[in-house]
Amino acid sequence: MTGVHGPTGDVHRARDLAQRLLADLPERWRHTIGVARRAEEVADTAGSHSEADILLAAAWMHDIGYAAELRDIGFHPVDGARHLHAAGWPSRIAGLVAHHSAALLVARARGLAAEIDRFPRETSPVSDALIYADQTVGPNGRIMTVEHRLADMLHRHGPDSPNAAVHAQREPLLRSAVHRVQQRLATQGQPPSAA
Ligand SMILES: [Fe+2]
Repeated sequence: MTGVHGPTGDVHRARDLAQRLLADLPERWRHTIGVARRAEEVADTAGSHSEADILLAAAWMHDIGYAAELRDIGFHPVDGARHLHAAGWPSRIAGLVAHHSAALLVARARGLAAEIDRFPRETSPVSDALIYADQTVGPNGRIMTVEHRLADMLHRHGPDSPNAAVHAQREPLLRSAVHRVQQRLATQGQPPSAA
């Protein structure tokens, strides 16, 4: 959020936790910094200061499940969410991490529906903005269009991956969320982004 409102303790705690957990994964950490910056850019679309803080905390922590010490079922959205739940973070933040970028579809393709269903799933300006941030920032934190990001993701995961198997279902969900954020930005008079 811009203006006089600064990030709360939860946002700082989220950033510090991600920085510690991703210390051995510099590319992932740079991506995370980029996603958090992107989330800050669109934080006004979240609807309120408190919603913006939930968005920023989730943005910092959305990929912590890649950390080796958190690896459990081997599906990073759920591994990250399990850690947050165990550490006492609000269930809403754990749910945003579990379900970030339409992870449910990939979870189903991997036979992990029961594991991800333990976490609440929301469709809201906050979950839209988290998709926008994650899907317009690539590895190493490079800003990219959602089209480029999705093409790069498919290339990295490969044609036989669960990500590729659900892409036809997942892509429209991600694109519509990005579009809704762009519409909210336009309504607020913010300049169009590169997404
Ligand atoms: Fe990410």
